[in-house]
Amino acid sequence: MSIRILATSPLYGSAVHELGARFPELLITPFRSPEWEKALPEAEALVITLNDILTLPEFDRAKKLKAVGTFSVGLNHLPLPYLEGRGIRVSNTPGVLTDDTADITLGLLLAVARRVAEGDGVVRKGLWKGWAPDFMLGTGLQGKVCGILGSGPIGRAVAKRVVAFGMEVLFWDRAGTGEPVNFGSGSAERLPLDELLAASRILSLNCPLTDTTRNLLSREKLMLLPKGALLINAARGSIVDENAVIDMLQSGRLGGAGFDVFENEPAINPRWLGAPRSVLLPHLGSATAETRDAMAHLACKGVAEALA
Ligand code: DGY
Repeated sequence: MSIRILATSPLYGSAVHELGARFPELLITPFRSPEWEKALPEAEALVITLNDILTLPEFDRAKKLKAVGTFSVGLNHLPLPYLEGRGIRVSNTPGVLTDDTADITLGLLLAVARRVAEGDGVVRKGLWKGWAPDFMLGTGLQGKVCGILGSGPIGRAVAKRVVAFGMEVLFWDRAGTGEPVNFGSGSAERLPLDELLAASRILSLNCPLTDTTRNLLSREKLMLLPKGALLINAARGSIVDENAVIDMLQSGRLGGAGFDVFENEPAINPRWLGAPRSVLLPHLGSATAETRDAMAHLACKGVAEALA
């Protein structure tokens, strides 16, 4: 059978199977399996996840390629200028994961500020000696400034939530300046990065990984945060210098960190495992059944439209 659509997994839910019902020349086989390698030159469309990072020579081999559907909103694993140059349509999954990713950001923030994971460990390990006035004190959130990197849908959804928790919001984005950012229940100023960092008791990363944001938070930039600041990353690991974050947690310069994403995930810098006041999640931002189903449908919809 000739192959028109090459998918590296059935994703989640029924979307890929529905795509196969419409385009029977669909093969589901793991990324870089012998079958995948063999079918690549025939494929008119690829369905991939953010783990499937094709090289340019691999894309070159896919001479008939018209479309790539990625099961992610992030596009940092794709060579966009190259694909655009070849007229290959890319479909990703914006919108449907906005709320879930904002929710996990708040989950991490609450877990770090109020020491939720640490407290759970104390109870489970039988280390709890009883309530005490100064036992496991955390950081209150009301009235604190939360700086948000990224004024896109996820950054704005985080803003809505942190305001509901009594925090003040400031934004940084690529535009750098301009009108205040409206996030539905309010609006907030956009500041240059250094000013935002100096003002943010809490810093939340909710921007895409691009040439502008890669290594944006160097050690030098992180040192601009107020002492004891909390850092939450539900965006991409490569935006921030992880070793600097771990050093700053160890020295107490940072008050806590909640990370859902890591530079070389799923490999974790082993230093994270001993980092105090940190909560680490295995990239769960969009991981709800409803959202993963919607993501699969969106990624497949773009592929179907390109081939129709
Ligand atoms: C995305 O879609 O880019 C997310 O990181 C996956 O959860």
